[in-house]
Order: sequence, then structure tokens, then C-alpha cells
Amino acid sequence: MTILETVTHVPDHGPGIEPGPVTAAAIALDDRHAAHNYSPLPVVAESAEGAWITDVEGRRYLDCLAAYSAVNFGHRNPEVTAAAHAQLDAVTLVSRAFHSDRLGPFCAALARLCGKDMVLPMNSGAEAVESALKVARKWGTDVKGVPAGEGNIVVARNNFHGRTTTIISFSDDETARRGFGPYTPGFRSVPFGDADALAAAIDDHTVAVLLEPIQGEAGIVVPPPDFLPRVRALCTELDVLMIADEIQSGLARTGRTFACDHWDVVPDVYLLGKALGGGVVPLSAVVADRDVLGVLHPGEHGSTFGGNPLAAAVGTTVVAMLERGEYQLRAGQLGDHLHARLRELVGHGVLEVRGLGLWAGVDVDPAIGTGKQVSTRLAARGVLVKDTHGSTLRFAPPIVITEEEIDWAVNGFAAVLAESR
Ligand SMILES: Cc1ncc(COP(=O)(O)O)c(C=O)c1O
Repeated sequence: MTILETVTHVPDHGPGIEPGPVTAAAIALDDRHAAHNYSPLPVVAESAEGAWITDVEGRRYLDCLAAYSAVNFGHRNPEVTAAAHAQLDAVTLVSRAFHSDRLGPFCAALARLCGKDMVLPMNSGAEAVESALKVARKWGTDVKGVPAGEGNIVVARNNFHGRTTTIISFSDDETARRGFGPYTPGFRSVPFGDADALAAAIDDHTVAVLLEPIQGEAGIVVPPPDFLPRVRALCTELDVLMIADEIQSGLARTGRTFACDHWDVVPDVYLLGKALGGGVVPLSAVVADRDVLGVLHPGEHGSTFGGNPLAAAVGTTVVAMLERGEYQLRAGQLGDHLHARLRELVGHGVLEVRGLGLWAGVDVDPAIGTGKQVSTRLAARGVLVKDTHGSTLRFAPPIVITEEEIDWAVNGFAAVLAESR
């Protein structure tokens, strides 16, 4: 099935569905034995296809979150699962002590997609970010000539790059930080979108600027039009690496292969993850030219599963799908529709709509409820979205969603707003 043949199945969900006994039992088991580091909606997924999730009670939900953009190509995308099945029957994991026939083709294809020379494959997004920070520091000492241990990296306020100890060291999210110190030094934070502040923060020991081109967890915040081009120019002028964290914004989500493409900006380093694994395997990557990634030598960095044959086979297929351009086009066209429909709700319970492509941050009037309350009411109508920061909701459906399904989701959202006013 191609994405253009996606079938629409809009269920007849009534409002106010109570969790059934199977749901309650599954949640109770999670509560007892799974660490409480998330606060999920009371929906227990059992299966999924395309843009739809079916729960353990047989109820169907339109997934408007897509695993934070990891399921850009739809749940169980047939091209991706075919590649995974074929590879499961060949070889899934070998030690990096020797080669596999899948790693080279994957790295070559991804490097080509990014217009770069080399790829460092990892697993989670946070691992790609960590790896890039190490590469930037090493590049600083080996290539730029910054004294060892003195390199600094400029980041943006309200960033989200993951949850490791070093990454939370430059986060502004107190919940993510509190109790987890001591923190890693060497980071400077400037307001997102403020190129003058960024220029002022750079000194002779600055090795990199790390940014999300569009801030995702902060609420889908799009920077002013001149920001990324100015960052690019500053980094070139001052011999600093520009690192674009495209882990959530990249790979067709915004209507282009990379969010940076909207501003014709090419960073020195791309960080990719989430959708790179096709929603099937964890797969992330640092992608850059040889003068940057070439600073790594044997023993300086590694990962047992990084670039394993199964992930590489899936990643190669994902790159081939992106090279066709149809997902980017579809995200752009359907994104225009999603944004137009959501903007109709401004003044009717919605304060602001931001974003690009099939990625929308929606500020709900706090008088209507918290983001969590509104997303719980929406789940009862069969639409899954995620709150982020107070009363902001994030709509990021799989790109295989149809226009009719978008209308159904937005109509459900409008009904939730109307009944809560
Ligand atoms: C921009 C960005 N970078 C990094 C990450 C971390 O990815 P992971 O959860 O796979 O570690 C995320 C996750 O949401 C992200 O949005």
C-alpha cells in the first residue's frame, strides 16, 4: 500500500469513555512494576496500523502524536516492516569487532541524503546528542586548537535534547534537573531566536552551537526568519560547528527533509533519530563531513547496538522513502490544512497555533483546563495528542493521515473546547 492509498476508518467514538476492566488491569500492572517516569493517558495500545491505534478493549484512536515523530511514516509502514522482516531472516546483530554488509550501504545512503561525507550511527536521540557533544569537543581540541577541557558549547533556552546527565545540565526544565546534579560544565545558554545574544556568547573557546531548528518540546516554537541564517553565518565566520538537532523536526515532519531546509541553512552536523528507525527500531545518527567526524578514532566512542544490521536495513529503507520526496510533499500539503483548521479555533478556546508542516503547537486557554485535562477529554473522543508545558498541546500525526481524518480530529478538538467553556 502506498501512502496515497491509505484507508480512512473514522470510528464512531462517543465522549466520556471509561477505562474498561482490561485497561484498568494493564495500567495497575504498569503502576506496580514500571518506573513512574511518565504520566500516560489511560489508553493501553494493543495494535496499530497507519495513523490508528487499537486498545486492549478494541477501541480505535487516531494517533496525532506519532510517538513524538518516530512514527512519521505510519505504524507498521509496509515498506519498513518488509525490510525488517527480511533482515530478521538474515542477521540482526554482529559485534562492531567486524563488519556487516548493511552498515556501509546505510551510512552511504544517509550521508547522501544529508549532503555530508560520514555517519556515526547510534540508537537513541539522546545518544546522538551526547555523541555530537563529544565530537564537537574533540574537534575543538584537535582541529580548532582550543586547549583541552576548555571548549564551550552555546545552546538555546528552553531546549530539549534528551535526558542524560550532560544534556539535562544545560536544560531549563527544573523537573528534568532537580536532584540529578552534579551537572556537566561547559555550556552557555542564550534565548532561542536571539542571534545577537548568540553572537555575544561565542568566544575563542566556543566549539559548537547546538540548536533545535524548531523547538519541539518547548511547544513547536519557530524562530524569526533571519535567526538560523544568521547562526549559520556566525558559525562560519567564527569557526564554530553549527549542530542542528533534527531528531524531532527532521525527516519530513515539517514538509521538508530537514527543518533547516525552510531557511536554506545547511548545518555542519545533523542529529537524527526517531523516524530514522521507521517506528520499528531505535536508530539515531550524527551526520557530518570527514573533517568533523574524522576526529574519532578506534576506542574513543562506540555502542554495542549502534549501526546493527537490523537497524541499518530499516534505516536504508527509510532513507530511500525520503529520497522519493512524497512524504515531505504530503506533510507540507496536509500541514497547511491542519494549521488552517486549527487556526479557525483561535478565539474559541485556542490562544495561538504555531508550527510548520504536520507539526502544530496549540496553546489552549488555561480557563478551559490544563493540557493534560484537554488531551484526556480528546482521548475519550478517540484522538490522541500530547500536552507539553501547561496548556500547550502538540499535534504531530503520522504523515499517512488523510485530510478527512485531520478534519475528524480537529472537529473532536473543537467539541472538547466547546463543552469545556
Ligand atoms: C529534539 C530532540 N532531541 C533529542 C531527543 C531525545 O531523543 P530520545 O528520547 O530518543 O533519547 C528528543 C526527544 O524527544 C528531541 O525531541
